[in-house]
Amino acid sequence: MDFRHQLTTVAGVAAVDADALLVVVVGSKVPNDLPAALAKALQAAVKQGDLAFEGGRCLYVGHLQGVKAPRVVFAIAADGSPRVVKSALSLGLAQLKGLGAKQLAVWLAGAGTLTEAHAEALATAGGDAVYLYRHTKPSAGSGSKLSRATLLCTRADEAAVSYGLKRGAAIVAGVTLAREVANRPGNHCTPSQLAEHAEELARAMKLKAEVLGRKEIEKLGMGAFLAVAQGSDDAPVVLVGKGITFDTGGISIKPAGEMDEMKFDMGGAASVLGTLRAVAQLKARVNLIGLIPTCENMPSGRAVKPGDVVRSLAGKTIEILNTDAEGRLILCDALAYAERFKPRVVIDIATLTGACVVALGHHRSGLFTPHDALAEALVRAGDAALDPCWRMPVDPEYDDALKSNFADIANVGPRAGGAITAAMFLKRFADKLRWAHLDIAGTAWRSGAHKGATGRPVGLLTHYVLAQAEGGSA
Ligand code: BES
Ligand code: MN
Ligand code: ZN
Repeated sequence: MDFRHQLTTVAGVAAVDADALLVVVVGSKVPNDLPAALAKALQAAVKQGDLAFEGGRCLYVGHLQGVKAPRVVFAIAADGSPRVVKSALSLGLAQLKGLGAKQLAVWLAGAGTLTEAHAEALATAGGDAVYLYRHTKPSAGSGSKLSRATLLCTRADEAAVSYGLKRGAAIVAGVTLAREVANRPGNHCTPSQLAEHAEELARAMKLKAEVLGRKEIEKLGMGAFLAVAQGSDDAPVVLVGKGITFDTGGISIKPAGEMDEMKFDMGGAASVLGTLRAVAQLKARVNLIGLIPTCENMPSGRAVKPGDVVRSLAGKTIEILNTDAEGRLILCDALAYAERFKPRVVIDIATLTGACVVALGHHRSGLFTPHDALAEALVRAGDAALDPCWRMPVDPEYDDALKSNFADIANVGPRAGGAITAAMFLKRFADKLRWAHLDIAGTAWRSGAHKGATGRPVGLLTHYVLAQAEGGSA
């Protein structure tokens, strides 16, 4: 979708040329910046009991005398915060789903001064509303007809709105890429196909992609260095995304129920691609590197067995007590590999533990880092992007859970605190890094009737990286 803004006056709202006018009504009375024709219709709808001034309420009223747009939708927002306005926008967009409107105009009535965050909320709500997965389901149809959303604003708000829409459009492009890549089933998104996505993205956005094959990876255990690390003079931000394109659990096999959802186990990898896309589109001046360890986790006669001990790139030996705790195993080598870039910060993003879903549900991603300033910056970025996370503890006391009699470290601890001990495992491989870990097991996809990837946490990561580009140091 194309996101624009248009300057208007209150009187001009009724004359706006669009197929549909979505009016978000902020507050609990008819706002006084609503043109008469709309104000009258709103008043009447409330009086008839068709609409109430309560957040979450929405009404399609079709054509109105004195309003040029042939469709009008009212959506009520309890207050003018970007979060609440975004929910109202999403509801309004849902009302327009399946209708013929191509061009949508949006007026935030009673919202006062519009900010970047309001504009970004429109863009991201719009992007969410029109995305449709079709790759392995062409019968899903051609999707939404909506192709343009215009935010009406006054001259005073123009600069902020224009930049917010631009940032929003970039995040939408990134979120859409991440959703699409993550939605593809394991047999349509194999490790080599995931690598092709990275290369295609690099071609389209003029980034640099490097795909390492088995031989190179084996050689790397011997300590080869990358030219890119030598050539860059500003320390990079490195994003490491878990790219398990299907997680059966391996020999410690998972139960059959919902196992199809383990195709989403590369949501971290997808979000790294999506963030590169968004940041490249905004041409942010920042040295950003994405690393994606990717493979399948399958049982076979040659599969790794519980109790096997392996040696990691960092030199530490690991007792693999549970082959289903595979994410941390591919990530620990990627973290060790990240060291050669001399990064200013390394963030890994992984659908790592069911325990994180138990702890935080599906609203906030889990954030783990021993670095307070980094934690604050990531929480702030998540709040700003309406893609929130919550800081979890990494006290050294949790470390005991990973003791092994046969190796330097075990890959699992007892059930209790499972999301934390997974983070503690990664932390052992990050002692030379400014590092944070995002467990997105609860936020990267939805289950049930609306099963599908969310594209999270592309918004959070994009905001964080943009703050780095603007001179942030955390
Ligand atoms: N990919 C899963 C984590 C997961 C599970 C994400 C369910 C979303 C929903 C991960 O590889 C895994 O299997 N983790 C195990 C760890 C355990 C063996 C310590 C888990 O969470 O059960
Ligand atoms: Mn697993
Ligand atoms: Zn997994």
